[in-house]
Amino acid sequence: MGTINIDQQLDYIDKVNNINKGKNLKYYILTMGCSLNENDSEKLSGIVTKMGYTKTENIEEANLILFNTCCIRENAEERLFGKLGEAKKYKEKNNAIIAIGGCMMQEKHIVEKLHKSYPYVDIIFGTHTLHKVPEDIYKILVDNGRLEDVLDIDGEVIEGLPIKRDDNIKALVTIMNGCNNFCTYCIVPYVRGRERSRHPKDILEEIEGLAKQGYKEIMLLGQNVNSYLRSEKWKEKGLDYNGINSFATLLRAINKIDGIERIRFISPHPKDFTEDVIEAIRDCEKICNFIHLPIQSGSSNILKTMNRKYTKESYLELVNKMREKIPGVKFSTDIIVGFPGETEENFEDTLDVVRKVNFEQVFMFIYSRRVGTPADKMENQIPEEIKHKRFEKLKDLVESQIDLNNKEYIGTTQKVLIEGYSKNDSSKLTGRTESNKVVILDGKNELIGKMLDVKIISEHKWYLKGSLN
Ligand code: 5AD
Ligand code: SF4
Repeated sequence: MGTINIDQQLDYIDKVNNINKGKNLKYYILTMGCSLNENDSEKLSGIVTKMGYTKTENIEEANLILFNTCCIRENAEERLFGKLGEAKKYKEKNNAIIAIGGCMMQEKHIVEKLHKSYPYVDIIFGTHTLHKVPEDIYKILVDNGRLEDVLDIDGEVIEGLPIKRDDNIKALVTIMNGCNNFCTYCIVPYVRGRERSRHPKDILEEIEGLAKQGYKEIMLLGQNVNSYLRSEKWKEKGLDYNGINSFATLLRAINKIDGIERIRFISPHPKDFTEDVIEAIRDCEKICNFIHLPIQSGSSNILKTMNRKYTKESYLELVNKMREKIPGVKFSTDIIVGFPGETEENFEDTLDVVRKVNFEQVFMFIYSRRVGTPADKMENQIPEEIKHKRFEKLKDLVESQIDLNNKEYIGTTQKVLIEGYSKNDSSKLTGRTESNKVVILDGKNELIGKMLDVKIISEHKWYLKGSLN
């Protein structure tokens, strides 16, 4: 596990900052996809803020336009190309630099399309070269050319990049990058490379720093968090850092950090959810008893062709085991409908699991063919209309369960971490329960950042209303 020296890149940041001095320049950033991408965008924002750009939500006035892309499903592609058409106008108007990075840039056919049809894009960078953006921007400013900086090999772990976070109560902390699982529908292993874990020391120092700044909640991120350090074989190699040699031991160490009140993580893989992690959740009071456990399908046959390495039965066993060991634990999940070969009977198995587990939240996706993945080559693709019909049926079931689950909250007292003012009603505070339900309540400014006992008085499908006494 190596880390790259980024001193040179920090020098480029200073050089660009000198060029930009006194110019009052602005940057616009669009982030697509998951929390890992959001965390990468926070790093990009950190870099360009140090270069002297200030953030604008208005692309029209931007001098630097950044797109951080996702390619997990097809709709992200349409969105990028639409936005690029818009960006062209502002490039002409403000002579803006356009830089595109992220997962989609690791796909050859996308980069070719950009070259052919979008020649006004200045910088293309990949998931393994984000740390070189300072150098890329400097070169564009000085040479005025075009740059492509995408690497196919697995990037190394990068530490020490500046960061400008979007929130000041909750912080995203990436603990590992990449994935070794090759689920047959998924593009991630091809665009993010193999698993690389950050050093425990770097993670702990980052979280200690966040606690000092007043952050209360930490969301640990990785494509497969419960194999943290496993692919580096830390345990076997005896590389313990203060007793940390696995995800479970990392969780226990973070739980001891003063000031942090809540710990969450996404996403674990059911096949790797070992006993030691379950025990850590049970023992550590700060780890939320709310686990995101992606099932993808409830059919053992489909799970086999998805290469998920568990069955419907073993998933349900895992859920039951966790319920026994962690009192009050609740679950959320990801489900894909319309995977190649999915029969009505297979789909019924998915509905059956949803009924049995009674998830608090379900992220539902229609299967999307991804170039280069095994599932894209499978012959028994499901027609769009059947996929949509199944999606609607699943959605109806999930929504009816959420309605019932929400009702159970009424009259209970929940621990709510107050995050700020509500976006929809700026006179009200908003926060979340341990189970990630949004709660809206009346209260004063000084309650922001506090964990409070809130009585739930009513439910409104996507949020709960609460009161302080
Ligand atoms: N089509 C639809 N959904 C997908 N996901 C991953 N790949 C695809 C795909 N090709 C979903 C999975 C994963 C979530 C992040 O996105 O459910 O857990
Ligand atoms: Fe994709 Fe599967 Fe890896 Fe998740 S575990 S990122 S779904 S390959």
